Amino acid sequence: MGARITLVRGDITTQEVDAIVNAANSGLLGGGGVDGAIHRAGGPAILEECRQLRATTLRDGLPTGQAVATTAGNLPARHLIHTVGPVYATSTDRTELLVSAYRESLRVADELGARTVAFPAISAGVYGWPMDDAARIAVETTGSTPTAVEEVRFVLFGDEAYTAFTRAAEHAG
Ligand code: APR
Repeated sequence: MGARITLVRGDITTQEVDAIVNAANSGLLGGGGVDGAIHRAGGPAILEECRQLRATTLRDGLPTGQAVATTAGNLPARHLIHTVGPVYATSTDRTELLVSAYRESLRVADELGARTVAFPAISAGVYGWPMDDAARIAVETTGSTPTAVEEVRFVLFGDEAYTAFTRAAEHAG
């Protein structure tokens, strides 16, 4: 069955859940936005494990739409799942890659036995995805993907995101 969806306005690095999802880039070696906040709060152990992945199983980086788990370091979560959302483009529809980022994160969460998972608004920041559409895709995808995860908690950093996700959740029923 699908997971229950909850919305929180706040900072994903403070969420006490089984797994926190990071909106990473393919390089997996940190960045700005939620990626930067997670590495800052989680500490160097995360980057160390990301470097090991780049040196072994992910030599070419993490492809868009895929997900991989590392230690959560000092974060108040047992696991950290990195996923790469698509950069928004008007010339081509990359919706399926954003859908994949959520689905693959849930698949990895299931592999880890995670029952509560916190997600940011993937691709809705630096990657430029319009917030309303990002929220619709996020809520529809996580609400319809079979998973053993019991709670999908969207952690929204600002009012615009929180409002957009509230509307998307209401619309999804
Ligand atoms: N907690 C929750 N949400 C946050 C936090 C935080 N601490 N910091 C930022 N956000 C929100 C942003 O406001 C935005 O709504 O996360 C959403 C996703 O924005 P980004 O972090 O920019 O992620 P994305 O759009 O997927 O771009 C990924 O940005 O940070 C770099 O290294 C990252 O190159 C990658 C790219």
